[in-house]
Amino acid sequence: MIRVKEMGPRDGLQNEKQIISIEDRIKYIHLLEQAGLDYIEVGAFVRPDLIPQMAGTDAVIDGLDLQEHTEISVLVPNIKGFEQARNTGIKEIAVFTAASETFNQKNINASIAESLQRFIEICKQADDLNIKVRGYVSTCFVCPFEGNISPEQVIPVIEKLLEMGCYEVSIGDTIGKATLAQTRTLFEKTHHIGLNGWLAGHFHDTYGQAIDNIKTAMEWDVKTFDASSGGIGGCPYAPGAPGNVGTEDVVQMLQKENIENKVNLTALVKASSFIEKKIGHRLASKVYQEEK
Ligand code: HMG
Ligand code: MG
Repeated sequence: MIRVKEMGPRDGLQNEKQIISIEDRIKYIHLLEQAGLDYIEVGAFVRPDLIPQMAGTDAVIDGLDLQEHTEISVLVPNIKGFEQARNTGIKEIAVFTAASETFNQKNINASIAESLQRFIEICKQADDLNIKVRGYVSTCFVCPFEGNISPEQVIPVIEKLLEMGCYEVSIGDTIGKATLAQTRTLFEKTHHIGLNGWLAGHFHDTYGQAIDNIKTAMEWDVKTFDASSGGIGGCPYAPGAPGNVGTEDVVQMLQKENIENKVNLTALVKASSFIEKKIGHRLASKVYQEEK
């Protein structure tokens, strides 16, 4: 069984010029849930002057009426973001750092070590409140500023996030430039040191390599992958980054491979079609465009 974690309402919308209303963000999340997605990243508590698309994440959470088994999460970069998340009553958050110093500095204005230090305190407070913490490592293969990144730069960051209490670490191909060889090398190394049961794959689809990279990670027993409905998404600090891999593309690949997953493609296309109209441009996922 492969778990697909839906990023559309966060990684997707954060990179769209069009600001989507709170009401429409809530409707989109409800449609994603109806499609069978039982894990949805619904927003971020970051600086609204930098990422205005995520402003009002507290109001989005407040307006949700989801089934009990549906898990939601939000991005949290520091204690201030954690306090905002905690006040909503959410039961899961995600902290995010990188394997490249330059990217991390530009993204969250902190060195990798500084960000990890902040997360230790967040993890402690989260643990006291029974809030689960997921970790992200961005630029695990290629950094838009530093070029290729080696597994030796990535693995210590993963280990520190797990040590401080993250239950899972998502491995980001932030600008979609990972080659199959790089994906194989990293997940082979993490497999040999027993980490892959705690890892997820977060592939962007810049060069159309995301599905093949996911299949490669699956060969090394990675069982959770992030995706955005319709393929919306990206990262504002990674020049040229397009969307995450389309959820439709992942679901269709799993169906073709006869691998169990819980998502209904027809209902998913309905969710993507709703948000495509609100965003006002054609979404990138080929499978979505074929199925709609
Ligand atoms: P900073 O400027 O270093 O923070 O921002 P600061 O502590 O110096 O505070 C400066 C001002 O910001 C203060 O306000 C704070 O209150 C405020 P003032 O007193 O001047 O009025 N502030 C905040 N406001 C709201 N929420 C907060 C917060 N923290 C401080 N949490 C910060 C540091 C990280 C907040 C900032 O750089 C930021 O918001 N960056 C945006 C990061 C982001 O959202 N990036 C995109 C998501 S990551 C991603 O997409 C990658 C991923 O998908 C994986 C992959 O693909 O690789 C996850
Ligand atoms: Mg991303």
